[in-house]
Amino acid sequence: MDFQRTKSIFESLYSGVDGYSVSSKARKNLSFASKAHTYGEVTPEGFYQILQDAKAKNGGIFYDLGSGTGKAVILASLFGDFSKLVGIEEIEDLHRASVDIFRRYETEVKPILPSEKQKQVIELVNSDFLEFDISEADLIFAHSTCFYDELMIALEKKCALLRKGTKLILVTKNFNSPLFEPLKSSEYPMSWGKATVNFYEKL
Ligand SMILES: C[S@@+](CC[C@H](N)C(=O)[O-])C[C@H]1O[C@@H](n2cnc3c(N)ncnc32)[C@H](O)[C@@H]1O
Repeated sequence: MDFQRTKSIFESLYSGVDGYSVSSKARKNLSFASKAHTYGEVTPEGFYQILQDAKAKNGGIFYDLGSGTGKAVILASLFGDFSKLVGIEEIEDLHRASVDIFRRYETEVKPILPSEKQKQVIELVNSDFLEFDISEADLIFAHSTCFYDELMIALEKKCALLRKGTKLILVTKNFNSPLFEPLKSSEYPMSWGKATVNFYEKL
């Protein structure tokens, strides 16, 4: 399926879903909400290019750490070649919105996709990603622009335990440990403007 057709399927799936307002309403009532929960989304154009540039292994496992309404997971399902995709989101209302979209994706979109896409497993989890086992991942994405320093340090420590060859994509932020080989750094369009995206491979 070509880019424009895939994009229009994605847009119709998300029409009427406003992750910014779900997030801002939910954060008003959450004691744990922090700068790290600032909302923002990937775009089809930007994430298509990010996936191309990530050169993920065919049939691998994709994780989105802080998955919001699930846009990166759905785009990775549509544009990528993954056997399993996992989105982890700490804010319950965003997680629930992603589950609603996922149900429509399964019933309305998957049946018209090629058979290998129909076999993909998608899991959406309501959790703090620091508490969740991500060790099976082949490609990890974190839209980490607003993650505060201590969270990035904890994430880097967790990722230091990943197996060799795991690829990581960080928006705006960097990993500094020599355990992560920088592969590429480039700008891509996000919902909120152009962002520098940093690609790594775990050594
Ligand atoms: C910038 S948004 C990205 C949403 C989605 N990944 C995208 O790119 O479209 C970052 C998300 O990370 C979530 N988040 C922040 N800290 C988290 C944590 N420790 N565990 C799980 N989710 C977290 C926020 O609630 C927010 O929805």
